[in-house]
Amino acid sequence: MLKPPYDRYETLYLYAFSGTHPALRNLSDPDFIGCWEEEDLTVLFFHREKPALPERIKREFGLDFELSARVPYTEWGEGRDLEPFTIGPFTFAPVWQGSPGALIYDPGVVFGSGNHPTTRLMLEALWELWQKAGPFERIYDLGCGSGLLSLLASRLGARVLAVDRNPLCVSLTRHNLALNRLEGEVLEADLRTLLPLEGGLVLANLYKGLLVELLGLPSFLKAEYYILSGFTSSMEGELRAVLAGGPLRIMARREKEGWVCLTLARTEK
Ligand SMILES: C[S@@+](CC[C@H](N)C(=O)[O-])C[C@H]1O[C@@H](n2cnc3c(N)ncnc32)[C@H](O)[C@@H]1O
Repeated sequence: MLKPPYDRYETLYLYAFSGTHPALRNLSDPDFIGCWEEEDLTVLFFHREKPALPERIKREFGLDFELSARVPYTEWGEGRDLEPFTIGPFTFAPVWQGSPGALIYDPGVVFGSGNHPTTRLMLEALWELWQKAGPFERIYDLGCGSGLLSLLASRLGARVLAVDRNPLCVSLTRHNLALNRLEGEVLEADLRTLLPLEGGLVLANLYKGLLVELLGLPSFLKAEYYILSGFTSSMEGELRAVLAGGPLRIMARREKEGWVCLTLARTEK
């Protein structure tokens, strides 16, 4: 995430290593952005080029260098040519474009810049459901990324429990809540370890395979409402097939650029 003297991202310098080491999360370097861990791979992000890094990481932490890349921030991930946007009465703005009253956020380098259709669909669906069926005492943000869904849920007044298995998402979501003086519990874990989630509203913008797995688990189906995205219209049939005969009823469907978002309510106890 952004630390002085940096107040925005321009070019990202990435270095990938095989293996992980907990000390790399807090690497001492003024240009360090963060450490992304995925399975048995570590990717370190910097604001500047670090030619001596592969040797240092091998010497100090024993990890083998895999590759490096230089990427303009605007081209990273789901696209980071970011502008403020609104959801109902709420404005979301990258921290360098913040205005009074806006929910400001450091978009970092993880998923959740605000530009992806699924994030927008999830935020729109949350605002719509809150007006129809809220307030919700408890909202779960499963796979929180940069934490935009948690920001809105907390701003609306819900008690938020966010979870992500990527430590960079966890630290960024905590940071973004703090930037807005909002409360929320943020855990680093595989979301499956939190089941069952009793009552409340579940927000899950996840890949289709994980959604299919979760919808087949009775322990996942104990909340009152669900907003799901992360799948395209061509994948929707598979999800609907899993939902058929289950306790969840589709209340609303949204689609943007081929991505789909479903709002569901539990009909059975
Ligand atoms: C598509 S992103 C969604 C981010 C954010 N909620 C949004 O809507 O912009 C999915 C997130 O889920 C996380 N994730 C995927 N599988 C997970 C799992 N089994 N347990 C916890 N987090 C997981 C990923 O690390 C990623 O941050």
